[in-house]
Amino acid sequence: MRWDFKKLTDDVEQDAGQIVDAQHLEAFRLKYLGKKGLIPEIYSSLGTLPPQEKPLVGKGVNDLKGRINEILELKKGQIGEQAQASRQQSLDVTIPGVSREIGHAHILSQTVNEICSIFERMGFVVQEGPEIESEFNNFTALNIPADHPSRDGFDTFYLDVKNPQEKSNLLLRSHTSPGQIRIMQEHKPPLAVVIPGKVYRPDAVDASHSFMFHQIEGLLVDRDVKFSDLKGLLIHFCEELFGKDIEMRFRPHFFPFTEPSAEVDISWKGGKKKWLEIMGCGMVNPKVFEHCGYPKGKYTGLAFGMGVERMAMLRHGINDIRLFYENDKRFLSQF
Ligand code: DAH
Repeated sequence: MRWDFKKLTDDVEQDAGQIVDAQHLEAFRLKYLGKKGLIPEIYSSLGTLPPQEKPLVGKGVNDLKGRINEILELKKGQIGEQAQASRQQSLDVTIPGVSREIGHAHILSQTVNEICSIFERMGFVVQEGPEIESEFNNFTALNIPADHPSRDGFDTFYLDVKNPQEKSNLLLRSHTSPGQIRIMQEHKPPLAVVIPGKVYRPDAVDASHSFMFHQIEGLLVDRDVKFSDLKGLLIHFCEELFGKDIEMRFRPHFFPFTEPSAEVDISWKGGKKKWLEIMGCGMVNPKVFEHCGYPKGKYTGLAFGMGVERMAMLRHGINDIRLFYENDKRFLSQF
């Protein structure tokens, strides 16, 4: 017979013993099963064989092919396991890892959160109001008269949209104080809220002005609230935020929605006496209560409002408000 299957099987087994890696395995496969390999050669010889040899050669070649496929499967598995094992050996757990950067809250959000939580610890509740407001909430109810310069189009962004309840247009709130009106219209005293949020004014942008910035409003209404309550509250707040070594002064000022009103200045003890204005405050003007539908003479309240950017700038020595909005990670990642 032309094909000696005993010898061929021995050859296959011997070759199989040499396979140590994927390259050898592929060479083995090509040698026997490739287009020009042994098995196709035997198959194509079948036609030329004497009829009595055909069945024997047919069986021999099928068995041989089966054995070759078995070897291929077996070796493929072994080589895969070896590769995995060597990968595990090469894992050096002492090499410093690649640390993934984790984001964090923006410095303004951090400042808002810190300020609000000081008030929350004193029993205040955090509330938010809409950035689009009515002229009534932003001005009229706060006792800001119709001819007040802040109501001028140069000082407030008016929308090209009529307020369905009023004749006037809607506007972008120019301070968080309209939040006071919304709270009082919806809730009866006693109440104590802080209202953080964005406010808008058509100011030219420079190191200390922006057309959008953040404020936090405070409002406490009850019976018999006194100016001394306001002072005690704000002194405690400033000591919590800026530290115990600050000095404060309440400087008389005018706001239409509070009476009496004051501005709060702080200074650091020991340093050069330099007063920095940090917020406005006062006792809620009875006219504001009236606009909210509270009965005359029943309640008294205190209110205050501060700029978040200003607080953050004072605390961290930041000298340009634009830095907050430029999203430069070199700046933001410092906080
Ligand atoms: N709304 C004032 C402003 O934007 C800040 C302010 C002052 C708020 C006194 C108050 C206050 O609640 O009592 O300048």
